[in-house]
This record gives sequence, structure tokens and C-alpha cells, in this order.
Amino acid sequence: MIEPREVAISTSDTFNGLRTTGEPLREGDSVIFFDRKDREYLKTLRAGETISIRGGTIAVDELLGKPDGVSVRSSLRERFVVLRPTLERLIPNLPRKAQVIYPKDLGLILMWGDVYPGATVVEAGVGPGALTLALLRAVGREGRVISFETREEHARAAERNVARYYGTAPQWTLTVGDVADGLRDLSVDRVFLDLPEPWRQTDLAWRALRPGGVFLGYVPTVLQVKGFVDSLKEHGGFACIDTMETLVRYWHVKEMSVRPQHRMVAHTGFVTTARRVEPLGQPVPPEEGV
Ligand SMILES: C[S@@+](CC[C@H](N)C(=O)[O-])C[C@H]1O[C@@H](n2cnc3c(N)ncnc32)[C@H](O)[C@@H]1O
Repeated sequence: MIEPREVAISTSDTFNGLRTTGEPLREGDSVIFFDRKDREYLKTLRAGETISIRGGTIAVDELLGKPDGVSVRSSLRERFVVLRPTLERLIPNLPRKAQVIYPKDLGLILMWGDVYPGATVVEAGVGPGALTLALLRAVGREGRVISFETREEHARAAERNVARYYGTAPQWTLTVGDVADGLRDLSVDRVFLDLPEPWRQTDLAWRALRPGGVFLGYVPTVLQVKGFVDSLKEHGGFACIDTMETLVRYWHVKEMSVRPQHRMVAHTGFVTTARRVEPLGQPVPPEEGV
């Protein structure tokens, strides 16, 4: 049992993920090298060092001070385009020990979860911090992201990812512990859960949410969707309950061959959203046999 406690938030002045355009490449920047087939290699620029990709090497000093988007050749004469990652490109490359929420679902979560600048959002679990990064951007400096993660090593990994790819985040609190304990004393605008049994937190989320607030669960299987939606309906304090998934299909566009790509990420997870409302009365127990 890990004692709930807040971990110190690292600060980083070597990379600020919000600064994605305009400035020349700098020491400490994380960049993606794209080869001619658009394969991606996420690296950090360290002065005086060399970077190895596909058997060739590139001197970092050749890149520092150059514009974002510069082309460079490795010692094997292979050409790469060097770009600071957008969040959408970064997340699939994020160092991780647990599954991340993919960008297609993060887009859905930010819109259907109605995240706005200044919002206070509770999030659990944190894993490598993909949703955390998206939330920190969306709530801005005037908002708050309150994150809970039971596993110390996942919390540490998220802390490193936020420090490196977002930068100093005074609007972020990360607690190592069960979200069930954390929700008890909070009053927030949004509660977003990416953990196996979100239905266990339904009543706690209702108590923590301000009137009209959004409760969102992200789960990978239909049985989990059923468990979560049933808990929302049985509780009686939630309305506008919607479950959805999103499928993004990239297209191959080359000369006369314009068609969907053969491969796609076909399944990730289901998003369920609900609004906190005043219950009409005592929750009605389900009818027998239903
Ligand atoms: C799939 S990962 C989360 C990924 C994350 N949302 C992202 O976008 O990168 C699920 C995480 O939930 C954590 N977890 C599971 N139950 C929890 C609980 N009751 N409270 C807090 N964290 C929990 C796990 O340790 C795991 O790191």
C-alpha cells in the first residue's frame, strides 16, 4: 500500500513543449527525425553529442541554432527532416511503461469532456501522462489538473514526461495514491477516469463534481462500458449519458493511387460521458431479471 502523498513537480527550463514553432533548435530540445518514408525517431539535442539513427550518426552541434524543420544528412548520407513534435506526434513516441490514450481519443475527450481554459479537472490514472499533457495545455495556466496514480513508477515517468514535454506546470498536482481517496475532499468541474473499474468511483465523482460537471470514463472493452453506464444510471445523479468511439483512417495519396491506407489503429477504447445533475429521488433498483 503506497501512502498517498504529493510528489514534487519537476521544473525544466531546457524544453517547453508549448514552444513548438518559430524559435531555432536549442540545447535540450526534443525533436523527431523523419526519414524519407516518414518513419519517426524521437531524440533529445545535447550539445557536443552525436545522435545515431539507422546506422548513421549526426552531430548535434550541426543542428543547434538551425530552424525547426531543417534537413540534415547522417554520416551514411541519409536525409532526415528535424522537427519539434506536435503533441499528436509526440504521444505515440512517449517513453512509457503503460498504455497511453491515443491522440484520436484525446481529441474526443477534450471536446466531449468540455475542457476549457480555467477548468479544474481530476484525472486518474496518469500512466505515462498522455492525457495529462493534453489537459495541461487545454486548461492553461489559470486552470488546474489534479492527477492521481497508484503506481509510484508510473507517477515518476509521467513527472519526467511533463517536465520534458510541457515544462514547468504550476497548475498540476500529482498524487501517488488511489483516486478514491483523492476525490473525497474535492470540488471540481470535470472528473476523467482511465482505469479498469470506473464504476467504483461513480458516487465519489458525483460528490466531487460541481453541478453540471462532466464525468468521463475511458475503457477498452464493452463489458467495462456496460458496468460503467449501469452504475451511472443506477446512481440517479447523472444525465446526458453517451458512449462513443472514434476511428481514424489515414489515406495513402501518391500519384494516381488515392485510397485508404491498408492498416489502421482499429480499436483503442470507448469514451463515456455524463453530466452531474440533482437526483430526482432515491435511485430506483433494477427490475429483477433485467
Ligand atoms: C492505461 S494507464 C493510464 C494512461 C493515461 N491516461 C495516459 O493517457 O497516458 C492506467 C493507469 O491507472 C492507474 N490506476 C489504476 N487504478 C487506479 C486508481 N484507483 N487510482 C489511481 N490510479 C489508478 C494504473 O497504475 C495505470 O498507470
